[in-house]
Amino acid sequence: MNTETNTVTVNTNHTVTVGTQQFYDDVIAGLTTMPKRLDSKYFYDAIGDVLFQGIMNSPEYYLTNCELEIFSNQVDVITRLILADNDEGFDLIELGAGDATKSTYLLGYLMKQDVDFTYLPIDISANVIRLLDNELSKKLPGLKFEGLNGDYFDMLTKAATLSDKRKVVLFMGSNIGNMPVDKAEQFCKELRRHLSPGDIVIIGFDLKKNPQTILDAYNDKAGVTKQFNLNLLTRINRELNADFMVDQFEHYPTYDPETGSCKSFLISCCEQKVHFRSSGKTIHFHKDEYIHMEISQKFTLQQIKDMAVNTGFSPIKYLFDDKEWFTDAVWVAK
Ligand code: AVJ
Repeated sequence: MNTETNTVTVNTNHTVTVGTQQFYDDVIAGLTTMPKRLDSKYFYDAIGDVLFQGIMNSPEYYLTNCELEIFSNQVDVITRLILADNDEGFDLIELGAGDATKSTYLLGYLMKQDVDFTYLPIDISANVIRLLDNELSKKLPGLKFEGLNGDYFDMLTKAATLSDKRKVVLFMGSNIGNMPVDKAEQFCKELRRHLSPGDIVIIGFDLKKNPQTILDAYNDKAGVTKQFNLNLLTRINRELNADFMVDQFEHYPTYDPETGSCKSFLISCCEQKVHFRSSGKTIHFHKDEYIHMEISQKFTLQQIKDMAVNTGFSPIKYLFDDKEWFTDAVWVAK
């Protein structure tokens, strides 16, 4: 892997792709710190994307249905808030677009209302951007589309070079939960720095609720979440030429109702050495040693309100599902 450079290539189908050197560097950095960790953004390769679809379809994973309910029932409210009194076109940027099921409601509604906008989905998965490009050109013919594959802020910077229009940023699905509260706050500050006064963000937060409901969502009976975690080891084996004994790891999900942090770990069932054959690097695991894989932070409404104030936004609306398990926060940049 050392021989490969960190490439950014612009493909003909309007997507920007990041190379594998960064993946290798991040994996090695994570596995050589104590305790060991991997960055959950790397879950999303082609197989990971399919497994995440499986999670979203599992009966225990309530998040998607809650936000789908908000977007399908309140798309008119969202549109009114987005347009406010602006009638010039805007850029609708989505961070971590995934399959964009929820945002497709909004895209379709905006097009029906003849609103002038360009949709710029940003995703760490090149596969996701390719699929979206194909799907949306069929589902929403005439949609102005510019897919960006890479890290959020690199691609936000890139988006700003493409246009100086007003920006509406969607950050849905509780993707912000992949950061603990203090990191999420730093993230919102950084997001604010990429925006101008009057720009809008819509951020999906998963709220604290019955702890068992939350734990079950990350410990589905069918074991898709377990496979989703293990798939990152398989991906590392394949793409980085390593030899994790994938069947020698157990999935250990946790939820702490006090902090609101839901975490998942993979635990090595035996002592093992993992070799990265291209670089000669070896990582040692003790029996029962864990890798921190992911955090899915749950928030109180008060934490969310404080976060807006602390990061340069004014809340204009909080949208909820019927059970009030999830909220989409609509904030305007001050
Ligand atoms: C895509 C980050 C919102 O944390 O709920 C689902 C990912 N991980 N089940 C989440 C995930 C395990 C998901 N996010």
